[in-house]
Amino acid sequence: MSEYVQVPSPSGKSAAWSPAANWLIPVALLLLSAVPVVAGSLRLAEMVGGLPVLPDGDRVRSAPVALVAHIVSVTVFSVLGAFQFAPRLRRRRRGWHRIAGRLVVLCGLLTALTGLWLTLFLPRGAADGDALVAIRVVVSVAMAACVCLGFVSVRRRDFAAHRSWMIRGYAIGMGAGTQFFTQMAWIVAVGPVTTVGTTSTLTAGWLINIVVAEWIILRGAAGPGRQSCGGADGDGAAGVTGSAAGTPAATSAVQPAVARRC
Ligand code: HEM
Repeated sequence: MSEYVQVPSPSGKSAAWSPAANWLIPVALLLLSAVPVVAGSLRLAEMVGGLPVLPDGDRVRSAPVALVAHIVSVTVFSVLGAFQFAPRLRRRRRGWHRIAGRLVVLCGLLTALTGLWLTLFLPRGAADGDALVAIRVVVSVAMAACVCLGFVSVRRRDFAAHRSWMIRGYAIGMGAGTQFFTQMAWIVAVGPVTTVGTTSTLTAGWLINIVVAEWIILRGAAGPGRQSCGGADGDGAAGVTGSAAGTPAATSAVQPAVARRC
């Protein structure tokens, strides 16, 4: 039998998401992923006979299977993943969160593995140096690890850890969106991107997202999904159970919440 426990926040008030968060969070994430997702669609269109709008077509099309798998998986991961962070959807449609979540995990893994494959086996772009290759390898492995740990955590009903790992995995994936802005900033401030420019702007995109993700995790700002641990289907975003209790993420998650013991 389930037992509900009211855990007061330090202020004594129960925190709740503003209703706007239910659409603001997915919309913001969709906007962030818009440029790489549109670029991917243009590349796919080009591959089936559309106009070549993007540069470097001959080079990237030399690994067509990995490229198509990468673009399809990043699109599903980015779009479906954005809705996993909508508080009300996550809490009220747990069946949906669970089914969509499995697809997001699968596509996240495929994104990371095809990203790794493209990094290692595609002929290098003119401005891709050794450092960028090494960083992409680290990022791919880290993204795959985060998504796997997010899945393993939720199977163990460790919802605080699930929330933290999924935020990390999604943030690494969304580096592709942030990189558009860091590259634009470089072009405006410095000029055409060189090898140093490419390496530093892509790395900056990932670093910015990782810092923001850690800030969100520490503040518990992905929030009152933490109010429930998901009950029988095990898909709430973050109750506080098991090994996560006592971690900073777990502590921030429990403060304002109505925590449910599973
Ligand atoms: C672990 C993360 C990722 C890694 C390491 C990675 C790596 C790569 C690499 C090496 C390429 C070939 C590009 C080239 O050599 O010019 C590529 C292509 C691409 N990636 Fe990723 N990627 C990752 C995640 C993502 C995500 C999350 C998105 C979208 C939200 C994305 C969107 C794209 C697109 C659209 C292309 C095709 C570019 C083109 O056709 O010119 N990638 N990726």
